[in-house]
Amino acid sequence: MKLAVFGSPIAHSRSPEIHQAFAEQTGREIQYERILASPEEFSERFAQFAAAEGVGANVTVPLKELALGFSKRLSPRAEQAQAVNTLIFRDGEWLGHNTDGDGLVADLFRFGQALRGARVLLIGAGGAARGVIGPMLDAEVAHLHIANRSGTKAENLVAEWQQRLAGQHHAQAKVFFTLLSAGDLASANGQWDIVINATSSSLTDERPAVTEATLANTPFCYDMGYGKQPTAFMQWAKANHCAVADGLGMLVEQAALSYFQWTGDIPDTQVVLDSLRSRL
Ligand code: ATR
Repeated sequence: MKLAVFGSPIAHSRSPEIHQAFAEQTGREIQYERILASPEEFSERFAQFAAAEGVGANVTVPLKELALGFSKRLSPRAEQAQAVNTLIFRDGEWLGHNTDGDGLVADLFRFGQALRGARVLLIGAGGAARGVIGPMLDAEVAHLHIANRSGTKAENLVAEWQQRLAGQHHAQAKVFFTLLSAGDLASANGQWDIVINATSSSLTDERPAVTEATLANTPFCYDMGYGKQPTAFMQWAKANHCAVADGLGMLVEQAALSYFQWTGDIPDTQVVLDSLRSRL
């Protein structure tokens, strides 16, 4: 089975080793390669891959929005996120899917975090945050507040969702029970059960400029970033007496959900995560 991950940069992607580990576990032969592609090159590189009998791909920064256009059909998750991280060749056509948000939810469950009825603060309103909203609503969180450096961007994202929800048939109206709100970073102060950093600030060794009041009674924080050392956000959360996890588990969980789409196999994520962490 021929698989690949497309992105730019791509050299440091951990996806090949994660999927190789899944394949060994489930007794499959896969070839999973990294393919470097700029937005301009993506279409041609993907066509080459498909012509060479590629049947599944992951897509990462900065190609997730472009990948929407390569998909004959989109899953609800890809539609909601307006981004594709998984391409699946099925019944002669390419399907676009997104496993990022469900990967995060799976990892939060692994940490024993109950989402139903929880008050969740999501910091950031870029691509990473966008993919999380649908799965959080499906998990029936009580309140999802999106705080972003640019408050307007967060407000626009929520307005887009309100519009989408208002257009839904009432059979799906359970999502209305989630209070969805947005604002700038100053709006992040409150009582949160879970605080999630979905900004790209860790890449520059920074953290979003929220104050300690944000974590007043918060028991658990999550940073979608990860690295050899705890990120700036993780250090800050720890200093404020909050248990905190990095995003390595989300990386493995979203990969497992992609792998399942391609193969129908459900891999054991914990052993792969432990081994990946020991090699960070
Ligand atoms: P990604 O795909 O990682 O989400 P993105 O779409 O470029 O990347 O979005 C980056 C997000 O991180 C944005 O929410 C950005 O805030 P702005 O919209 O105000 O730019 C946020 N971000 C990046 N660096 C940050 C920092 N140092 N402090 C706070 N927010 C930051």
